[in-house]
Amino acid sequence: MIYLLTGSSGFIGFHLANELLRNPKNKVYGLDSLNKYYSISLKKKRTNILKKKKNFKFLNINLCNYNLSKKIILEIKPNFIFHLAGQPGVIYSFKDPVSYKNNNILATKNLLKIIRLIKVKKFIFSSSSSVYGEQKKFPIKENFKLNPINYYAVTKLKCENLIRKKLKELKIPYIIFRLFTVYGPMGRPDMFIYSAVKKINKSKLITLYNHGKSLRDFTYIDDVVKAFIKSISKKISNNPIINICSSNPINILKITNTIGKLLKKKIRIQFRNSRKGEIDKTHGSNALLKRIFKVKKFTDITKGLRNIIYSQ
Ligand SMILES: NC(=O)c1ccc[n+]([C@@H]2O[C@H](COP(=O)([O-])OP(=O)(O)OC[C@H]3O[C@@H](n4cnc5c(N)ncnc54)[C@H](O)[C@@H]3O)[C@@H](O)[C@H]2O)c1
Repeated sequence: MIYLLTGSSGFIGFHLANELLRNPKNKVYGLDSLNKYYSISLKKKRTNILKKKKNFKFLNINLCNYNLSKKIILEIKPNFIFHLAGQPGVIYSFKDPVSYKNNNILATKNLLKIIRLIKVKKFIFSSSSSVYGEQKKFPIKENFKLNPINYYAVTKLKCENLIRKKLKELKIPYIIFRLFTVYGPMGRPDMFIYSAVKKINKSKLITLYNHGKSLRDFTYIDDVVKAFIKSISKKISNNPIINICSSNPINILKITNTIGKLLKKKIRIQFRNSRKGEIDKTHGSNALLKRIFKVKKFTDITKGLRNIIYSQ
């Protein structure tokens, strides 16, 4: 099978590509613009690991460049597309909204325009729990009313709607996954766990917003990759939207203390108020994921944190 994986130099894309490449029959084309949102050397490090595999080919392309993307994707003729490229991050969306408009909305529009011209068996998109915004009832189910409260969430929802409309017209099966705070080795430096491990290791002061009371449904990368892999062969008729989460929210202060214990380091914390656009609590329902993909277990947070610490 031929796979096109956009965002392959990113955190989740890298882990997914690695798993797909374990099957020598799979040919994986990883597409990434290697943008400067965070350390390019980390993105290159991930890419170089993938490049060692014979069945991987890297395409350093920006999906906002329609003509080049079209030329290359039409040559590849992928059977499956995993669309993970995009501009993530909530806080940064207030600083540089144009990056979200381009890398989420325009990039997705371009990709959808291109795939009108090829026969794709399935299109899998990685959306975000942020589309739910602040909710009063928990755990959050896929059919809850959406309430995006930051521009990142607005652009992810726009992408979902574009995919639903266009792929329905084209009769291309699709799955939209809504991911809840993913963590794991070689993670994103702008995300809490990665930066907390780094700071605590160096005995640096760590800032906890919302006075450390925010709850996050942390989800381990292997659990996300497993769901994506299962989505390839699973015959699903109605183009579902599915949460990927451990459904086990943990408070940020508790996570910080656990990291400190695992690293055997003293923690220095400063508490601050919440930041604009940040959600107090995420807690998704994974009942649909469990039912469709027969998933039983999710990685325990202490085990996941240990894997990050020992992989460094
Ligand atoms: N990590 C999480 O917790 C999380 C949660 C919910 C949703 N998501 C979504 O999952 C996807 C992957 O997230 P991640 O954490 O791996 O992020 P990431 O930033 O590590 O990976 C995204 C990759 O996309 C690339 N990219 C951005 N714009 C591009 C463009 N126009 N053309 C080609 N490549 C482009 C970037 O260079 C980057 O390598 C994103 O769409 C993100 O919104 C992530």
